[in-house]
Amino acid sequence: MANGVTTQPPAEARPAHSNLLRVIAIVILALIVLVGLAVLITWLVIKPKQLVYTIENGTVSNFKLNYNHLNASFDFGIRVRNPNRRISVYYDSIDVSLSYDDQTIAFNTLEPFHQPMGNVTQLKAKIEARDVALSNGLSRDLRLDKASGKVQLDVRIQARTRFKVGIWKSKHKTLRILCPSVVVHFTSAKIAQRTYCDIDY
Ligand SMILES: *[C@@H]1O[C@H](CO)[C@@H](O)[C@H](O)[C@H]1NC(C)=O
Ligand SMILES: *[C@@H]1O[C@H](CO)[C@@H](O)[C@H](O)[C@H]1NC(C)=O
Ligand SMILES: *[C@@H]1O[C@H](CO)[C@@H](O)[C@H](O)[C@H]1NC(C)=O
Repeated sequence: MANGVTTQPPAEARPAHSNLLRVIAIVILALIVLVGLAVLITWLVIKPKQLVYTIENGTVSNFKLNYNHLNASFDFGIRVRNPNRRISVYYDSIDVSLSYDDQTIAFNTLEPFHQPMGNVTQLKAKIEARDVALSNGLSRDLRLDKASGKVQLDVRIQARTRFKVGIWKSKHKTLRILCPSVVVHFTSAKIAQRTYCDIDY
């Protein structure tokens, strides 16, 4: 038994289907690599960059707070920069809302526009609060802010967009933009300082 001689199985001819499987596997692998490369190259050429939103300035006028009801006109200058050199943006609808302490107090819709590549667009948003009912607590806080001369508001922008690269247009995508804690002064001489916005795709 222990003479060290092992019997070798007879050398078998490799079955033909195993060769075929191998070729198919190589072709599939090559395709995956090619598609991956194509995607990578396209990505590198287009180099998508985030849109940049800032609130440039803001004022409030006609402020009236009576019996927990608010009237006020807010004006904001919103700067939208498209840093992309190969992507243009269609803004099909733009809703701007204003919230104070998480309660929406005013809302407006801006004109749709198309933003070319590398373009900077200054939007003017006039947002009116018309007889908005506030809770007792909110009214009290707002009155205190009025007395202190300034108020902090969140500006939210919701935009339905499409992106265009060459002749290809993407499907609709909703962008949610939050410009947090924009400080607006009641004294007309002072305008809100620049606020950078966060963008959520
Ligand atoms: C707000 O304006 C409306 C008219 O546009 C008026 O009826 C209402 O009384 C005003 N409310 C306050 C709080 O001034
Ligand atoms: C805000 O700035 C824009 C230009 O950046 C200007 O056209 C607009 O009049 C300014 N608005 C206010 C309220 O200062
Ligand atoms: C950006 O695009 C808008 C309209 O799409 C145009 O009115 C404006 O002049 C452009 N601004 C620059 C700096 O090219």
